[in-house]
Amino acid sequence: MSRHAPDLNQALRSARLTLEPIHPSHAKLLYERHADERMWSYEPRSHRATSVAELERRFTRFAARRSPDGSEVWLNYAVRLTGGPYVGTMQATITGSSSLIGYTIFADHWRQGYGKEGCARLVRFLFEEFGVRWVRATVDTENAASIALLEHIGFQRTWTGPSDDMPGRFDHRYELQAPAAPGGASAR
Ligand SMILES: CC(C)(COP(=O)(O)OP(=O)(O)OC[C@H]1O[C@@H](n2cnc3c(N)ncnc32)[C@H](O)[C@@H]1OP(=O)(O)O)[C@@H](O)C(=O)NCCC(=O)NCCS
Repeated sequence: MSRHAPDLNQALRSARLTLEPIHPSHAKLLYERHADERMWSYEPRSHRATSVAELERRFTRFAARRSPDGSEVWLNYAVRLTGGPYVGTMQATITGSSSLIGYTIFADHWRQGYGKEGCARLVRFLFEEFGVRWVRATVDTENAASIALLEHIGFQRTWTGPSDDMPGRFDHRYELQAPAAPGGASAR
């Protein structure tokens, strides 16, 4: 672990993006794009909020930055072009030395490298500030964009099998291990 306690409410910046820690007020700004049909081909539809109020309640829970029992750190971000529009959301759940990430880029902004750029920044934060050793992600086997994103930033496929939350579908699990030298190489 790093020697200082990381600030869970800090914004993360990359070349083009700012990852703003989620706040309930983001719900209004993000709802329409979150609910866009195109976003839900490979994600359980039960995760799609059906109103701004529902998304606001979700974001209120996320703004605690920890699970109710305190055992997990919950990082959730609204991703925007710095000084410009919101383009997606990203999250990481940290449990001990490992973290599970999730990410969405809104459909109107696909294929501009924002997914790769935002995830690489988030992963670097997890390794450098939280002492995380493994970052993991689960992806539908037909989600070509998400698979390419993970492989581009160095994730290795570790498992393929039936999806836990989408009956009848199949998932790959991916993993990225922290760079060997502490504080050394960035997350590619
Ligand atoms: C997956 C997702 C985040 C990718 O975001 P993005 O910003 O469009 O991705 P990028 O522009 O950074 O591209 C990532 C890679 O995917 C490739 N890619 C993007 N869209 C693609 C598509 N429709 N089909 C095949 N490859 C695609 C890009 O060429 C790039 O590959 P490369 O590194 O080999 O050049 C976005 O499609 C999305 O939010 N989808 C809906 C929600 C979702 O599936 N989230 C992930 C759940 S695991």
